[in-house]
Amino acid sequence: MKTFIEPFKIKTIEEIPITTIEQRTQFLEDANNNPFSLRSEHITIDLLTDSGTTAMSAKQWAALMDGDESYAGSRSYYKFENIVRDITGFKHIIPTHQGRAAEKILFSVVGGKGLTIPNNTHFDTTRANIEYSLCDAVDCPVEVGTKPDVTAPFKGNIDLEKLEAVIKKAGPENIPLSMITVTNNSGGGQPVSMQNIRETKELLSKYNIPFFIDCCRFAENAYFIKMREPGYENKTIKEIAQEMFSYADGATMSAKKDGLSNTGGFLACNDDKLAEKAKTMLIITEGFVTYGGLARRDLEALARGFVEVLEESYLEYRIKQVENLGNQLIEAGVPILVPTGGHAVYLDAKRFAPHIAPEFFPGQAIANEIYRISGVRTVEIGSLMFGKKDENNNHVAPPMELVRLAIPRRVYTQSHIDYIAEAVIEVYNNREKLRKMKIVWEAEFLRHFTIKMEYID
Ligand code: F0G
Repeated sequence: MKTFIEPFKIKTIEEIPITTIEQRTQFLEDANNNPFSLRSEHITIDLLTDSGTTAMSAKQWAALMDGDESYAGSRSYYKFENIVRDITGFKHIIPTHQGRAAEKILFSVVGGKGLTIPNNTHFDTTRANIEYSLCDAVDCPVEVGTKPDVTAPFKGNIDLEKLEAVIKKAGPENIPLSMITVTNNSGGGQPVSMQNIRETKELLSKYNIPFFIDCCRFAENAYFIKMREPGYENKTIKEIAQEMFSYADGATMSAKKDGLSNTGGFLACNDDKLAEKAKTMLIITEGFVTYGGLARRDLEALARGFVEVLEESYLEYRIKQVENLGNQLIEAGVPILVPTGGHAVYLDAKRFAPHIAPEFFPGQAIANEIYRISGVRTVEIGSLMFGKKDENNNHVAPPMELVRLAIPRRVYTQSHIDYIAEAVIEVYNNREKLRKMKIVWEAEFLRHFTIKMEYID
């Protein structure tokens, strides 16, 4: 059959708000032209994030009822721990309420002034937590990973030469650990190959540096390895995931992604001393070691989510849905980052709106216009999220200007995807009308969440 279908049927529904263009123009103005400040009741299709926005299965909802809400030693924790250990093999599994809590704990334990943490590309909260601990966060993406128009199977890979140069410059004793993010979210949701993970481990072992994986989207990454890397075609997703983790000394995870749940995360490691310090910090900031800031029922939903996310029929549908949106846009000539990633389609704002220079936030102008004409919310990942100022107050742009259309898991149907494509194509066909923007207020860290913006006429 040519048509691919959602491998589930719908048991319960949630109405989505339908609004007019006049209303949305006003909502945007009220939100200071920042889609993060819009109310969800004014959004028709929400592609802001794939994080915590998943639809849970009937079995997950049923598991919630079976949650054991004991403060200490909850049966639900042990179920969660078992499945996470089965997939990752790590000795210590420390639950947290979401990914950044795991990052905060990890970097308050290992971070500090004068230290450096490399990664293929740090996600914004990872970078912020590292920098907040006064550590340097350094990105080492492969060259092809910063070229949105060039296709390659594993554009999420870390550049091993760059990584070694960073190690030599900082000194291995100043690198408490090195990371790889799978899939590479800030680099376009692109996968990392098994070979790259293995070679990273070899390089880091040479310098005695622990290796951590930011594994939010590990199952999607494993699926890409199965599809694209020779030698893995006949392995199960679980076997591939297990091999990925076998090279690492620890991991941070936002289980709001490939945990197929609305909340949760973990920090995992093999090092007893690190685990001891992390658990102390967990108790101070998150909660006891058998719940980490989560309701125990959420650990039940996660335990079931980790089983379902490894199902190949689910992953095939997931990756094909995202790819279908990408293909519709490519056919209409819309410049997107290719190939499409695991969880999102990324518009290439530099080619989409070449008349708006990075310092005038082309991605934000595109995201706002998509919302205005269709009620579809997307997010800028470019100069607004990652831009800096140099010592002369000049704008320093990141390598790419992107708009991310993140697809929540198991939430939207094919007709929703068609509607999204139509909206983006409409904005692209009228791209010369997109206007420059400026910041009128910003916070010190993670400014994009609360920023206030205006148009420049
Ligand atoms: N690492 C990566 C690669 C992520 O994508 C995220 C979150 C985190 C860490 C932090 O996890 O949100 O549970 O605290 N990404 C979401 C996104 C927010 O929209 O991409 P968290």
